[in-house]
This record gives sequence, structure tokens and C-alpha cells, in this order.
Amino acid sequence: YGLRRRTSTKNLWRLDYLKIRDKVKMIEGDLGDLSSLERAVEKSNPDEVYNLAAQSYVATSWKQPIYTAEITGLGVLRMLEAIRHVNPKIKFYQASSSEMFGKVQEIPQKETTPFHPRSPYGVSKVFGYWITVNYRESFDIFACNGILFNHESPLRGTEFVTKKITQGVARIKKGLQDHIELGNLNSKRDWGFAGDYVEAMWLMLQQEEAEDYVIALNEQHSVREFVEMAAPYFGYDIEWFGEGEDELGIDKKTKKTIVRVDSKYYRPSEVDTLLGDSTKARKELGWKPKISFKDLVEDMCKNGK
Ligand code: GDD
Repeated sequence: YGLRRRTSTKNLWRLDYLKIRDKVKMIEGDLGDLSSLERAVEKSNPDEVYNLAAQSYVATSWKQPIYTAEITGLGVLRMLEAIRHVNPKIKFYQASSSEMFGKVQEIPQKETTPFHPRSPYGVSKVFGYWITVNYRESFDIFACNGILFNHESPLRGTEFVTKKITQGVARIKKGLQDHIELGNLNSKRDWGFAGDYVEAMWLMLQQEEAEDYVIALNEQHSVREFVEMAAPYFGYDIEWFGEGEDELGIDKKTKKTIVRVDSKYYRPSEVDTLLGDSTKARKELGWKPKISFKDLVEDMCKNGK
């Protein structure tokens, strides 16, 4: 079963890409509406619930902070309440985020690293994390937090930086777009393949004890490096000129401008650097990512649309 927010136009293309549309029964519901969640849990009668729903775009969380707190934060509590009322034996996975580490207190970040979120999104995720721990401790619900570092694939939404870059360069190559506008090129992330991370989510719910795990590739790259690695799939070789808002990424051969910096994509407070340490998951869950960073960039360049 999949839970789906009502929209006037259906947005199920990812299920088509994965060729599972006829295998998933959709139930209408909303993290803002407890009664719809209770009905969804009753109807599907699940053994496991995976809460991946959120207002998940960090930049928007400054524009819609209260909505973000309602859905990304309180929405987790509503889901847990639905489980508690309908059947507390249901196992629960919460999509916690490396954004909770924010202004990082140690490098690399692991399960014991203190949180210092830097956006209303990050703050809301910290609430979701602790309410999940609290329902485990208070009501003995089998509830786990996966603290996932950025996870990407060709299914990524177009506003996130990896998709914006890979789709943007592909469109430039086809003559559909002139250049890509980006914000902070120096920001560093630990990017892995979403498919590998989904396996880790499932593994967490198959353990004897409910616990929290960091899931990451344990490897860091900047937005700038991501551009440099994606460009060659479309025949471009990027060199950088200028600084800050005046910086340009230009193709060496054709001298075409591929990247321009626009300060409208800067965030009011940035998470400069994220690097995970997923040793616990690798040891206790036997989890190991199969797709490298290089393969991920290639997959997004070749299979994006
Ligand atoms: N989106 C975007 N667009 N980001 C840009 C751009 C741009 O034009 N230019 C630079 N960046 C930088 C952002 O400032 C940020 O530092 C980094 O690229 C990654 O941005 P996103 O791809 O939007 O992802 P995110 O790291 O903010 O958040 C994602 O990962 C989290 C896990 O750490 C989201 O998927 C969150 O929902 C998730 O929790």
C-alpha cells in the first residue's frame, strides 16, 4: 500500500519508472489529518509502516516554516498516534535526516553526534526523531530512526541539486536550456544511491531490537565536484572562473557557459558539510551500499528525464 496526498493531477510517474504501479494500492491520506491516517492504517492492516512523507525541500522550509513543522515534525506524531490507536504491534520506520546534524559538532557524523539543525526543516526532523524514540520508550512500539544522508536516483525531484545539475546539463546539450543557475557550489554532501538506502530501511525493521542507524556512503563531495563529474557524460569539461556570485562554470572546448551562480539559491543558514559514518549499520545490519558515487552520477546522467 502507498499513502498519497490528494492532488487534482496524479503524480505517480515514479511507480511507472519502477514498473510497480499495478502492485501498489494507493490510499488517500494526509500527514496533516490524523483521521485519514487512522483509516489508512485500519484499511491496509500493515506489519510495517515506513514514514517517508514530509515537506522535504530544505529551502522551502524558510518560506513555509509552520507548514513544514506541521507535516515534517507533527506529521510523525500523527502517524505514531494512528499506529498506537489501531495496532501498537505495527513496526514503524521514521525517515530521519542528516540535516539534523546541521552545523556539525563532529566529523564524521554518527548516531551519537549531537544535533544542531540549521533550517525549520532540520528542526522539524529533530522533533520527528525524538518523538519516534519517545514512542519506543513510552509505549514499546518497535520504532526506528534511519538517519539518512542525501540519497539520490533518476527519480529525484527536479529542484534538488543533483537532479537540477544532471537534468540541466542534459537539456543544455539538447539545446533546450542555456545554462544552469546554482547557489552554493562549495557545499559538501555525502551522496548515495536511494535504492541502497531503502534496503537499509527494510533491514532495520527486521532486527530483534528497534534502534537508530546512520546510513551513508561515508564519502563527501562538493556541489562543484558533482558538476565536474556530470558534465563529461554530455561532452563538457568544466573550468571555473570568478568568485562567489560572479563565478562561472565554462566548457573548456566550446567556451560555453554551463553554470552561473545566482544568490537567490543561497540559504539563510547553510549546512556546509555533511559526512556520515555508517559503521553501526554495516556491522549490525550487514548493510553495504552497492552503488558508488561515480555510478550514481552516471545513472542520473544516463537515465534522467
Ligand atoms: N536545491 C539546490 N538548488 N541546492 C543547491 C543549489 C541549487 O541550485 N545550489 C547549491 N545547492 C546546495 C544547497 O545549498 C545544499 O547545500 C546542497 O546543494 C544540497 O541541496 P539539496 O539537493 O536541496 O539537498 P539538501 O542537502 O538540502 O537536503 C536533502 O537531503 C537531506 C538529507 O541530508 C533533502 O532530500 C532532504 O529532504 C534530506 O533530509
